[in-house]
Amino acid sequence: MSKTLVAYFSASGVTAGVAKKLANVLGADVHEIVPQEKYTDADLDWTNKKSRSSIEMNDKAFRPAIANKVENMEQYDKIYIGFPIWWYTAPTIINTFLEQYNMDEKTVVPFATSGSSQMGKTNDDLRKSCTGAILKEGKRFDAGVSKSELKCWTDNV
Ligand SMILES: Cc1cc2nc3c(=O)[nH]c(=O)nc-3n(C[C@H](O)[C@H](O)[C@H](O)COP(=O)(O)O)c2cc1C
Repeated sequence: MSKTLVAYFSASGVTAGVAKKLANVLGADVHEIVPQEKYTDADLDWTNKKSRSSIEMNDKAFRPAIANKVENMEQYDKIYIGFPIWWYTAPTIINTFLEQYNMDEKTVVPFATSGSSQMGKTNDDLRKSCTGAILKEGKRFDAGVSKSELKCWTDNV
């Protein structure tokens, strides 16, 4: 039996809203990726070169720790993976997530929210963390995306 999972990381709640709507549209299970150490407002200050997010995103090999795990990842053959765009790409905690599981032959579909940036070269950074997977072209959504827009997208993935 094939099952779909919507997994997401959201530092300030915007991606969480889209992820829940998407899971509802798909009738999919939903999983929040919880960082071992939560990001504070100061951590998220992109105008400060010394903030936690700036330091982490300057080192693409950095892998922020995750506090929780997906139970029975084997049951899912399609995984929608949601995140905020940070510095034009996915936060490296998404690499941590993908590297924790055997993604061979699973279909991975990224989606994101952002101030305005599109997905850009995000998949170049994600591909190395799920080499055996079928990594689809992702899509960036506005915070207020409608269910019908999400449905239209998933029908065409
Ligand atoms: C560290 C950091 C870097 C960001 N970089 C970008 C960016 O490159 N382009 C953009 O449009 N928005 C950027 N943003 C804005 C977020 O992508 C946007 O606010 C997102 O919807 C937040 O989602 P969340 O509430 O799920 O964390 C950045 C935000 C943070 C905290």
